[in-house]
Amino acid sequence: MDKVKWGVIGAGGIARRRTIPGILLSENAELISVMEVNMTLANEIKEQFNAKKAFDNIDDLLADKEIDAVYIASPVIYHKEQAIKAANARKHILLEKPICLTVKEGIEVINYCQLKNVKLATGFMMRFHAYHQKMKQLVQEGKIGNIVSARAQLTCWYPDMPGNWRQSYNTSGGGALMDMGVHCLDLIQYITGYKSKRVAGLTNTLTFDYEVEDSGAFLVELENGAICHVESNFNIPDDAAKCRLEFYGTKGSLLAEGTISQIETGSLEVTFSDDTKEYDATQDRSENRTRHIDVEFGNMYAKEIDSFSLSILKDTKVEVPATDGIQIQRVIEAAYASSKNNEYVKL
Ligand SMILES: NC(=O)c1ccc[n+]([C@@H]2O[C@H](COP(=O)([O-])OP(=O)(O)OC[C@H]3O[C@@H](n4cnc5c(N)ncnc54)[C@H](O)[C@@H]3O)[C@@H](O)[C@H]2O)c1
Repeated sequence: MDKVKWGVIGAGGIARRRTIPGILLSENAELISVMEVNMTLANEIKEQFNAKKAFDNIDDLLADKEIDAVYIASPVIYHKEQAIKAANARKHILLEKPICLTVKEGIEVINYCQLKNVKLATGFMMRFHAYHQKMKQLVQEGKIGNIVSARAQLTCWYPDMPGNWRQSYNTSGGGALMDMGVHCLDLIQYITGYKSKRVAGLTNTLTFDYEVEDSGAFLVELENGAICHVESNFNIPDDAAKCRLEFYGTKGSLLAEGTISQIETGSLEVTFSDDTKEYDATQDRSENRTRHIDVEFGNMYAKEIDSFSLSILKDTKVEVPATDGIQIQRVIEAAYASSKNNEYVKL
C-alpha cells in the first residue's frame, strides 16, 4: 500500500471546498469514494473530483474493502455514530473538529478507536500553515523569550439560517467558540507548547436570533502562567475580519494577520528585542526593529492529509491526535461554564 485510499463522509461542505482538493494534491493519498445525504449530490461530487464511487449512506461506503481511511466532515451531531461505525469497519479516521457534541462523547470515540486499533486524528489543519510552523519554530528557539501573552481571533459572518445545524446546541455542541475558537486555542497551545490551566469565558448572542452564541471570548492561563485571549464571532463581516494571531514574550513579539484562515495566506511581523534593558520612564518605542518574515505557502489541507496518510503507511503516531481535539474542547466547555456561572474554571 503506497497510497492511502480515502472515503469521504459528508462530502458536500468543507470537504468539497477544501479537503477533497487537498486529498487530490497529496502524494500519498487517493480519493476513492464520497458519501452524501442523497445520490444526486454524491454523484455530482464524484464527477467533480473524478472519484471512483458515490454513496448515499455510510454503511455501503464502509463495507467497501478498498477504503483504508475516512474523512468525516458531517454535522457534529453525526460524528460519534459515524466514527464508531468507521472504527468497527477498521477504517482509520480523520474526524473534523469539534470531535463530538461533548467531551464525554469524544472520549468514548477515542477509547473505541483504541480498542479497534484504528488511528484517529482531528481536523486542526491550521497547524500546518507555513506561518504557524514558523511561529512555533521562533517561539521554541526562544526568539521572543518567555511567552507572557497571546491573542487569537477567528470570525466570520453567519446570519440566521433556519434549520442550520451550527445554530442549535443539540446539533453543533456550541456556537462561535466551539466552531472557531477551537482553532484559535489549538494554535496558541501548539505554538507555545503549553496547555491551558484555567479559563474565564464570556458568550453572548448579540446580533442573530439563533440559540448558540454569535459572540464569544475567553481568557486562558497557560501552564507557564502566560495569560492569553481567544475571540470568536459569527457577526463580523468577512471583509472586516482581521483574524490576528499574536504572541508577546520577554524578548519580542510575533504578529500574524490573516493566517487563521482556510487558505494558506496572511503576513507575519516579528520584533526581536532583549530582556536586559533598564526601566525606561519615557517608554521610548522609536527604535523600529520590526520586520516581515517570508515563507513559502502551500495547501494546509493537502499537508494535513499527507501527514495522516503517512502515519497510516508507516504505522507511526498521528501528528494531530484526537486527544488534542478533546483537550481543547474541554477548555471550550469550561469557557461556557465560566460564562454561565460567572466564575473562572480550573482545568
Ligand atoms: N477544518 C476546517 O477548515 C473546517 C471548516 C469548516 C467546517 N469544518 C468542520 O467540518 C464539519 C462540517 O462542517 P461544514 O461547514 O462542512 O458543514 P456543511 O453543513 O456545510 O456540510 C456538511 C455536509 O454534510 C452533509 N450531511 C448532512 N447530514 C449528513 C449525514 N448524516 N452523514 C453524512 N453527511 C451528512 C450535508 O449534506 C453537507 O453537505 C464540522 O465538524 C465543522 O466544524 C472544518
